[in-house]
Amino acid sequence: MIEHDVVIVGGGLAGSRAAVEIARTDPSLSIAVIAKTHPIRSHSVAAQGGMAATLRNVDEADSWEAHAFDTVKGSDYLADQDAVEILTREAPEVVIDLEHMGVLFSRLPDGRIAQRAFGGHSHKRTCYAADKTGHAILHELVNNLRRYGVAIYDEWYVMRLILESGQAKGLVMFRIRDGQMQVVRAKAVMFATGGYGRVFNTTSNDYASTGDGLAMTAAAGLPLEDMEFVQFHPTGLYPAGVLISEAVRGEGAYLINSDGERFMERYAPSRMELAPRDITSRAIACELRGGRGVHLDGRAGGPFVHLDVRHLGRETIMSRIPFAWEESHRLAGVDAVVEPIPVRPTIHYSMGGIPVNTEGQVRSSPTGLVEGFFAAGETACVSVHGANRLGSNSLLECVVYGRRTGAAIAEYVQKRVMPDLDESYYLTQAQQQVQALIDQSGVHRIAQVRQEFQDCMTEYCGVFRSQALMQQGLDNLRRLRQKAEQVYLDDKGKLFNTELIEALELQSLMLVGEIILTGALNRQESRGAHSREDFTERDDANFLKHTLAYYSPAGIEVSYMPVVINRFEPQERKY
Ligand code: FUM
Repeated sequence: MIEHDVVIVGGGLAGSRAAVEIARTDPSLSIAVIAKTHPIRSHSVAAQGGMAATLRNVDEADSWEAHAFDTVKGSDYLADQDAVEILTREAPEVVIDLEHMGVLFSRLPDGRIAQRAFGGHSHKRTCYAADKTGHAILHELVNNLRRYGVAIYDEWYVMRLILESGQAKGLVMFRIRDGQMQVVRAKAVMFATGGYGRVFNTTSNDYASTGDGLAMTAAAGLPLEDMEFVQFHPTGLYPAGVLISEAVRGEGAYLINSDGERFMERYAPSRMELAPRDITSRAIACELRGGRGVHLDGRAGGPFVHLDVRHLGRETIMSRIPFAWEESHRLAGVDAVVEPIPVRPTIHYSMGGIPVNTEGQVRSSPTGLVEGFFAAGETACVSVHGANRLGSNSLLECVVYGRRTGAAIAEYVQKRVMPDLDESYYLTQAQQQVQALIDQSGVHRIAQVRQEFQDCMTEYCGVFRSQALMQQGLDNLRRLRQKAEQVYLDDKGKLFNTELIEALELQSLMLVGEIILTGALNRQESRGAHSREDFTERDDANFLKHTLAYYSPAGIEVSYMPVVINRFEPQERKY
């Protein structure tokens, strides 16, 4: 059996930052990062526009309080304000720390870190590295993993969290290269497994974003929080759905409909294209519904709107948003210097996740904590984003809460002994599960069932939702789950059996999808990204509370948890 003091699942920003903090705090600890891709290929590497922090390099009037207020208002008042205060107060310090590690942020002419405008932020506070910020940060953090001697198990697939009597003791994983199965035990387990964008059919997320950490947590009987809040990024490139960064609008791009109108004037007159994402995505969806989208041949009534950067000029485009230009050129054949970019909303981010306290320790209930289990980053819900995240707050969350969780773990493991567990029991169970999948004489291809599932989630739990639509979605999903039990695998081998991984990922996706739909059906109001056509108003009297959804094979139970409101009283949200 493999043993480490701490095992971290996920090598992206939150996981890597936590590992660095643990190593810095106590160099004697044995730390492992386990990931199904190489850490440098984690989805964090695709983050583009930047990371918010009130350095006040561009706007001296900025303050952490203003950042906190923007974040809480952006969250439609569902964020926990103690967690938001930590996020925004610690932001400048973590950016400077990253700079000291060697992250190459873009600069002002006087050499200080540059900052740009972003949606829902009242000041220019987003620090960036052109439009490749995640890439710049992740490379330095992964370099630091090596520097601090963190063991890296890359291309290992974690199948199960081992939880006994309310204590996390380790996990079961197999090596993708050869199917070798291992049990790992540890004094602390941390999940930093990212999001679940692949639950939907159009997403900015990579292929690995299948919600495995969320599904393993739910399957272990622990709750997931606020999973109904799914973020659409307004500007996914049409038709691929990949991200065209909000930085493009931060630099001054216009959103234009088929009438040539800057339509955000009608939806968020004071913020225009820099309204928060829920509002901007809904605005685009309304334009498309109203027949003011554009077709590829320029006719009205099409499936996308235009993002126009031509007025910015070649030099600004190539120096500030070169990646947006490159993606548009490579994937849509558009030269953004002379043509508008076709965009429409794409699934981007999970506001909900594994409930944690502000030290990253996982909650078992509104008042209980799980021994030995921590989480941070997109997979966790601390909750700093509430019902809608502001752009450039997610890299920040990964780094602030990755660091805090790392520090908490380093202290926590000092008083914990290595847990006992029955390795052979878990190995046998996992081997049987894998063998059953391989031997299954099903009739459906995995890709076909996955596509039907993704289409179902997109159609029945998209930008606009209603009771009838979501009930239909849940009914379809239950039928699809039966279908998923009859998939077959062509590959019966052990070497790089990616089909087996797809089968396991499909189980994760479906479990997560059912929790999203159930939470959304139960929340009978509109708040942030959760927009119901049958309950169009925010309902603070009945729903200013967090959802906790508990999965069991018999069904999903929903209960609620209070929101921490200690600074900003909920108000009407207008931009
Ligand atoms: O649009 C973007 O560059 C994305 C940033 C974010 O999700 O924070």
